[in-house]
Order: sequence, then C-alpha cells, then structure tokens
Amino acid sequence: MSHDEQPALVADLGAVDDFPVPAPLAGHGPARVIAMCNQKGGVGKTTTTINLGAALAEYGRRVLIVDFDPQGAASVGLGVNALEMDQTIYSLITSRHPDVLGAIVRTRVPDLDIVPANIDLSAAEVQLVSEVGRESVLKRVLRPALDDYDVVLIDCQPSLGLLTVNALTAAHGVIVPVEAEFFALRGVALLVETIETVRDRINPQLTVDGIVATMVDPRTLHAREVLERLDEAFGDLVFSTRIHRTVKFPDASVATEPITTYAPTHPGAQAYRRLAREVIARGDVA
Ligand SMILES: Nc1ncnc2c1ncn2[C@@H]1O[C@H](COP(=O)(O)OP(=O)(O)OP(=O)(O)O)[C@@H](O)[C@H]1O
Ligand SMILES: [Mg+2]
Repeated sequence: MSHDEQPALVADLGAVDDFPVPAPLAGHGPARVIAMCNQKGGVGKTTTTINLGAALAEYGRRVLIVDFDPQGAASVGLGVNALEMDQTIYSLITSRHPDVLGAIVRTRVPDLDIVPANIDLSAAEVQLVSEVGRESVLKRVLRPALDDYDVVLIDCQPSLGLLTVNALTAAHGVIVPVEAEFFALRGVALLVETIETVRDRINPQLTVDGIVATMVDPRTLHAREVLERLDEAFGDLVFSTRIHRTVKFPDASVATEPITTYAPTHPGAQAYRRLAREVIARGDVA
C-alpha cells in the first residue's frame, strides 16, 4: 500500500466532516468572483482552482474558471488545448471589444467552463501598463459573463504584478492556498498587504474569503506546527478543510482531469468536496 492510501487519511477527514450538502439552486448568477492568489509558486493555486471548481459544479453550481497564468496550467489540467486558440484571456484583455462569452470553452465536467490562457498572456503585463484604467481591464472583460455563473474562479500566476492586481480588482473575494511548510507563512503577510492596498485604492468590496492549507502531510510534526502558526496568525480565515499531500493530484493533472472525476472516492477528491461545502456554508458562494 502506498502511503497515499493510508486509511488514517480517510479517518482524519471523516472525523471533521460537518458541512451540509448544499441545497440545489433555484436559478443561477450573479457570480461571486474569487481570485486564487499567492505570489509563491507551486503552492496549489491551480490544483485548488480546478478541484474546488469541479466540486462546486458537482453541487450544481455553475462555475467559470479564468486561467490567468501564461503557463496555462488550468487549461491544460482540464484538457483544453489553448495553444492554437485565437480567443484566450490574452486576446480578451487586449481587445477593444472583448467578447468573453465567445471565448468560453466547456470542459468535460458539466457546469465547469473555462476561459483558457496560453503563453501569449506573458506579453500582456507590459502591454497593459500604458492603458488607461489598466488595473480594471479584467473586470470589464468578465462583466458580461457574471450573470451566467454562480462562481468565477481566477487562477492567478505566482506574482504580485499587474495581472494579479487585475484579478484582485475583478474579484469580490480572495482564496489563498498556502503550502504547509515553514517559509510559506512569510509571503502571506505581503499578499495580505497587497490585498489591502487594492481594497483601499480600487476595490472597496474585496475581502479575503479564506486561507486553505495544501500539501499537508499530517504525519509530520513540522506540518502540524505550520498549521498551528497559520491558525494563530489568521484565525477563522483558515478553512478547517485541509488538503493533504498525495500523488493523486499530479496524476490527475497528467490525465487532464479534476481529481473529483479521475479518482472520485479518493480522500483528495473528498477534501475538495468538503472545501466546496465549507465555502458555501460560509456564505461566500450561493
Ligand atoms: N495536495 C497536493 N499533494 C501533492 N501534490 C500537489 C498537491 N497540490 C498540488 N500538487 C502538485 O504540486 C504542483 C504545484 O501545484 P499547482 O500547480 O496547483 O500550484 P500553483 O500554485 O498553481 O503553481 P504556480 O505558482 O506555478 O502556478 C503540481 O505538480 C501539482 O500537481
Ligand atoms: Mg498555477
């Protein structure tokens, strides 16, 4: 048995599984826009975007993912080949008459759609600098799509540059995935400062919806210490749902599927379903 499949992980999740299955919605929209943000690389932003999105869609929410990283990992991870597409988030934010509805691509998961990205987006940061209202370009692009969805998840790139500021300006809330390791906490303070600056200057409604611990290895003392410090520093902002480290996540990306369809009964899939229920129970998403 590989350590991923240890029954202890299942038990750990089950013991705290206390959020109700959300009631179906009578209608859809307008969406809450949530930026998935952390300037540190490789902390689980894309994995959380894809799997929280897929889990919310399973619960009947209409979900739009906006791939806002030139690496295009969210697009690839959902089996969307954005390399050859002429309509991507890049073409939208650099167009005079952006047609977001025309750029949305369905994924294989019902109710989970995506605006894809590819490497073209890496040029956008420089191009936007000279625009009037350069911080709110993404917000204007997304507006016509909001009524069709219950939640829009923006998968940010690992930086605090102009693209991320655009995501924070377009967003109602921010979810911060934090890898459960010691140095992860330092960057979060800087991120919170950036969020506060955007709130003060551009987007007064912006709130931190929550901090989610990812890649938790519950058997190590180190991970437990980091989780304690996260709780001390951020209290109720920290989601009680924690995402454990398991190779099933990279496996699911290679298969270009969310874990919820790739390994539906795996504790990693259950964890993202629980996170979806917790997000809904907090009232952040309808
Ligand atoms: N809970 C987890 N357990 C094990 N591996 C994970 C977990 N979550 C994510 N990974 C893997 O870690 C790597 C980084 O994850 P991911 O791409 O989601 O991070 P990211 O914050 O979006 O990275 P970037 O900053 O480069 O955009 C990926 O290979 C992913 O499959
Ligand atoms: Mg990413």
